[in-house]
Amino acid sequence: MSPTTAVDGNSSTNKKFKVTVVGSGNWGSVAAKLIGSNTLKLSSFHDEVRMWVFEETLPSGEKLTDVINRDNENVKYLPGIKLGRNVVADPDLVNAVKDANMLVFVTPHQFMEGICRRLVGKVRSDAEAISLIKGMEVKMEGPCMISSLISELLGINCCVLMGANIANEIAKEMFSEATVGYREHREVAERWVNLFSTTYFIVSPVQDVEGVELCGTLKNVVALAAGFVDGLDMGNNTKAAIMRIGLREMRVFSKLMFSSVKDNTFFESCGVADLITTCLGGRNRKVAEAFARNGGKRSFDELEAEMLQGQKLQGVSTAKEVYEVLSKRGWQELFPLFTTVHEITIGHLPPSAIVEHSEHTPNFSLVEGSAQYY
Ligand SMILES: NC(=O)c1ccc[n+]([C@@H]2O[C@H](COP(=O)([O-])OP(=O)(O)OC[C@H]3O[C@@H](n4cnc5c(N)ncnc54)[C@H](O)[C@@H]3O)[C@@H](O)[C@H]2O)c1
Repeated sequence: MSPTTAVDGNSSTNKKFKVTVVGSGNWGSVAAKLIGSNTLKLSSFHDEVRMWVFEETLPSGEKLTDVINRDNENVKYLPGIKLGRNVVADPDLVNAVKDANMLVFVTPHQFMEGICRRLVGKVRSDAEAISLIKGMEVKMEGPCMISSLISELLGINCCVLMGANIANEIAKEMFSEATVGYREHREVAERWVNLFSTTYFIVSPVQDVEGVELCGTLKNVVALAAGFVDGLDMGNNTKAAIMRIGLREMRVFSKLMFSSVKDNTFFESCGVADLITTCLGGRNRKVAEAFARNGGKRSFDELEAEMLQGQKLQGVSTAKEVYEVLSKRGWQELFPLFTTVHEITIGHLPPSAIVEHSEHTPNFSLVEGSAQYY
């Protein structure tokens, strides 16, 4: 559907949807801006978009929330971009979600379990959720995707939105695409598509929550590998090879975890396009390059604090989580790139190991298209 002709498809019920964005980092702020511009145009949504802010005191002594509400700008995580007057920052998590029936979750993944636990019993029972979060939790019983965590803890349905979406570029309204993954209800997916779509942000639905979410999660591990290659001054051929091997590991890992994952998902914006943009320009690539240039002698934590000014890296923790899944199942040799990235990040291997180890071609025919080893 053309975003300029987007209809809200809600005339039969006349129910107005109220949106809250949980999270206000770089992508969270851009998501609030996108959504806020659409709720003003689409009659089935309330104009106001609430945005929960993890409160911080700025160097000026002011509260971040007060500055956002006064200047319409998240001066810490998205400086120079106006969010729109209908985006209202709220430091009180429970208050921010209490009236909403559309909840957009967009925080670094490591904070999500705590946030969900604080929200148990506090969200509307008819609420629908969408997760823009890249990452997963590893529990004793196995990996848990963030959309499942939200559904299980809050008892609500959860879609996902992922894609080649470097937030600062979308903030400047440069053309890009994204993918909404949904489980069952096409009309819910289309409501999310309408809420996010603009002339410069084209969103397509696919019925494959886990495939879309795993693409968004795993590509951050491949981006670390691409950053090591850049830091070692290897060329474009090497980087392309790393991306290809990474994409293959993403696909095999996803299909082993969830037999429902579809091959076509890897050709959507959430798949190959997100992998390319993250390996060319994202923050995981950038910090991994610095790590390799320093010969692995400065830790990721130190580099993250120095280079990202409060923004969070997802790739290092995701690499650890993926490694836990692989080692529990004895799959390390089937996933040499994922395994090597983790071992480099914890200092067990030098950054140069990224090409030494990736040259082994595992026999994926053992596992391809099958979930029975999981
Ligand atoms: N930035 C991008 O370009 C981009 C694009 C697509 C997806 N994503 C994904 O979106 C998610 C959110 O990333 P982002 O870029 O909006 O955030 P960010 O890394 O820019 O900012 C970090 C956020 O975490 C908050 N925070 C810090 N400590 C916290 C705590 N203890 N509890 C709760 N919140 C805390 C900060 O206030 C800030 O809002 C991540 O999963 C990321 O992978 C980011």
